[in-house]
This record gives sequence, C-alpha cells and structure tokens, in this order.
Amino acid sequence: MRFTVRAAARWAAFAGLMGVALPPCAAVAAAPAAVARNASATLAPQPASTDAKPVYSDAAALGRLMFFDASLSASGKMSCASCHSPSHAYGPPNGLAAQLGGPDMRSQGTRAVPSLRYVLNRTPIWSHAQAASLSERLSETDNAPVGGFGWDGRFNHLHDQASFPLFNPDEMANKDPSAVLAKLEQTPYATRFKEVFGQNIFADRTKAFTQAMYAIERFELEDPSFHPYTSKFDDYLDGKLQLTAQELRGKKLFDNPTGGNCASCHIDQVGVDGSHPLFTDFNFQALGVPRNPELRANADPKYFDMGLCGPLRTDQASDKSNCGLFKSVSLRNTATRQVFFHNGRFHTLKDALRFYVQRDTNPARWYPKDAHGKVDKFNDLPVALRVNVDTTDEPLTRKAGERPVWSERDIDDVAAFLITLNDGYVPTPKRAK
Ligand code: HEC
Ligand code: HEC
Repeated sequence: MRFTVRAAARWAAFAGLMGVALPPCAAVAAAPAAVARNASATLAPQPASTDAKPVYSDAAALGRLMFFDASLSASGKMSCASCHSPSHAYGPPNGLAAQLGGPDMRSQGTRAVPSLRYVLNRTPIWSHAQAASLSERLSETDNAPVGGFGWDGRFNHLHDQASFPLFNPDEMANKDPSAVLAKLEQTPYATRFKEVFGQNIFADRTKAFTQAMYAIERFELEDPSFHPYTSKFDDYLDGKLQLTAQELRGKKLFDNPTGGNCASCHIDQVGVDGSHPLFTDFNFQALGVPRNPELRANADPKYFDMGLCGPLRTDQASDKSNCGLFKSVSLRNTATRQVFFHNGRFHTLKDALRFYVQRDTNPARWYPKDAHGKVDKFNDLPVALRVNVDTTDEPLTRKAGERPVWSERDIDDVAAFLITLNDGYVPTPKRAK
C-alpha cells in the first residue's frame, strides 16, 4: 500500500520539473509553466558537475541582486540570504530553531529554515489526489498529498513564495508591495531594473512587483549554485569513486525496508532518466516530532503548528487527517545543518537519527511527562489529532521497551553515509608509494 503511494509520488517528483526548460528571456512576461504531476514531461539528465556555462537571463541577474539585498527589508538588515545562506547550502547559518527578524530583528519565526539546494526546480506542484470513492480509498490509498513549497506545501510557484518573507512581520516585515518597490527604486540596480523591464516599469506598481518576484524566481531556477551535484555520493553514482566500508554499511541501513527504511521516503535511487536522487519524495507525513520549547509561539499551550492543516496554510484545514503533516525534505547537505525538522527541535544529525529509531522504543527520552506523570507522546499535536502520526512505516512501528532498529554504531554508520551528501567534496589525493 505504502509502496504504491511512494512509487506514484516518486514519478510525480520527476514529472514535476518546473521552469528549467524555459528559454532565457530579458523580461519575464509569463509565469514559468509548472508541469502537472501526471504530465508526460521527462527530466533532462542532471549533469553531475556544472562545467557547461549556464544560460543566465537578465531577470535572473536582477533576482540575484535582490536575493542578497538587505535594504529590501524593514530593518535594512535582512536579505533572503540572511536565512538562506549560500555558504550553508542556502540553509540557516546557525543553530537557531527559527531565525530572528522583523523591523527590529527581534521577532522570532515559527519554523526552521529549509535548504534551498536542489529542490527549487524539482518540487512538483502541490497535489492531493482524492480517492473517488470510499472503497477506492480503502483499497488503493494513493491519496497522499505531495509537493508545493514550504514545509506545508502552500506555494506552487517560487514567485508566489518570494513575497511571503518580504511581508512576514517576523522576517523582512514590509508593509505591502509599495514598501518593497520604494526600497527597490533606491537601490543601485534600479536603473538596470528599468532597462530590463521598461523605463516606466515603476509607474505600474502591480506590474513592477510582479516582475520583481519573477526576477527572484529566475535567479532561484537558473543559478547553478542551487544544484551543484558536487557531493561524494554524486561521484560515487558516476562511478568515479567507491564509498568507504562504513559509508556503504550506512547506506545499507538507510535502504533496508525492514530496518531504517529511510529510502522509502528519502529516495536515493537514480531516476529512470539518469537524474541523481534528491533524497526526498516530496510527500507529507506526521512524524510526531516533539514540541520545541525554543519556539516562542509554543509558550501558548493552545498554539500548535500543524503543517498542512494550519495555521500558516489555510486551504486544507477542513480535513483533520491533514493535521501534523509536513513535507519530507531533501537530505542533501543535511549533515551540515545545526537544526533539524520543521520546528528545529533537534540540533545534531545523530539526535535526528536517534529520534527515528527510539521514538517508540524509548519515548520517555523524547517527550516530557504530562500532569499525571505519563509520557506525553506526540506532544506537539492536540491529543485528538495524535492518531495522524505515522506508526505504520518502519522504523516507526516499535513498542516501548523493544530494541531499537539501530545501535549507536549503526547511527554512526548512517551519519557517515549522510555526510557523503554534502556538496563540495574534494577527494583526498592518494599518497604516492
Ligand atoms: C527570517 C528567515 C527567512 C528569510 C529572510 C527568508 N526565508 Fe525563505 N524560508 C524561511 C523559512 C522558515 C521557510 C519555511 C517556511 C514555511 O514552511 O512556512 C522558508 C522557505 C522558503 C522556500 C521554500 C523552500 C522549499 O523547499 O519548500 C523558498 C523558495 C524560500 N524560502 C525563498 C526565500 C526568498 C526568495 C527569500 C527572500 C525574498 C526568503 N526565502 C527569505 C526563512 C526565511
Ligand atoms: C514515512 C516517510 C519517512 C521516512 C520513512 C523517513 N523520513 Fe525522514 N523525514 C520525513 C518527513 C516528512 C520529514 C519532515 C518532518 C518534519 O519536519 O516534521 C523528514 C525529515 C528528516 C530529517 C530532517 C531534515 C531537515 O533538514 O530538517 C532527517 C535528518 C531525516 N528525515 C532522516 C531520515 C532517516 C535517517 C530516516 C530513516 C531512519 C528517515 N528520515 C525516514 C519523512 C520520512
């Protein structure tokens, strides 16, 4: 059952290629076409290295300037790159569960910063195929939600997503599009913006803002730094090197469907078209990650970040089976992070791995006790919605007191394997005999 869902999602992930095949254009007039999940588009093989000179549009060059421009924020101190740091795989530059922003740089967001590497041009558009009938739903359960940007998949296009941080009061905190444009007009590249989009572009505020968001999107899709494919694992896939015995052991543990079973969601197989895997299926799951007291929003016991069913996402809230589900993320470069999962609850990779294999065998290690002294398992969801947490996929099926599927040594091995997914691998030269 699960396999069917995953297999379909895997296909969706490859069919959902967005925008990369667009011809370069100075002024981006139309939205890059998002390919529907069942479209017959095939993904061009991803080069393992980026030797070929990329086509780089004028819009992308402007988007790049905007991405790194802190003057576009209310504080004047925060750019997209403050949170999506290029030297940290476009992920967070520190171990904060959520970054600080807002007009005075003191407001805290509610979610961990995801890495922007690899997923931007390969995230399928959001879809939630509903079964046509109850019997179909019971027999063939391919109704798993998939795709979209954000931990809750609420944006289908990068140009829509880009305006969220610009206006979010905890992030770049602009009042409205006019506030952003007023800042844009003061930048040294405003002249260039007019050359590319038209001398009178700023007279039409709606159009100017739309073009600005497309420019950011073009940068995100065109800049090769978002998908370098320079990890040791990529070299291994290309047959250029062997993994060490420990790394291979880790991979085996990661793959084993009756063990770690990680690869069932974090896909590590080369695509039919030769594309290198991204270690995500873009599906949604509720893993029951413990509540994180480091998030200020969690001081309110009535506040819950429930992903697909809100509060940030609003269109899926009526179906309570969506509550607690978050998008599976790419594990490329995950070993470089200091913060893991949507709420940033864990700060080391090994703790994230331990959580998977000990969540059920030793819940007292991960969850606090409630008022009656009972371990409050899955405490980041209201009690009535905890049934949504995944207890059917390995390794999340164990009972308290059972032996975890991985030992500490196994965890070391899997961590060693995941480190091979870090970009910028430089082979150590063989010592001359
Ligand atoms: C204050 C930190 C912060 C800033 C500044 C910021 N982001 Fe983000 N970004 C986040 C967080 C947190 C998320 C996850 C949001 C969610 O799930 O609601 C995110 C998600 C994203 C995603 C979705 C990635 C995915 O795989 O789904 C994209 C794309 C993105 N940001 C681009 C940008 C751009 C472009 C800017 C500048 C206009 C920007 N971000 C500014 C914190 C930030
Ligand atoms: C049933 C699908 C599923 C399986 C099986 C699975 N994961 Fe995940 N993984 C997810 C989802 C969904 C998230 C994001 C959940 C969240 O933040 O609430 C995630 C997040 C992660 C993260 C955090 C990444 C980050 O950037 O914050 C790591 C690390 C990870 N998984 C590793 C593993 C390992 C190792 C295994 C095998 C033991 C595994 N996963 C098995 C679905 C899965």
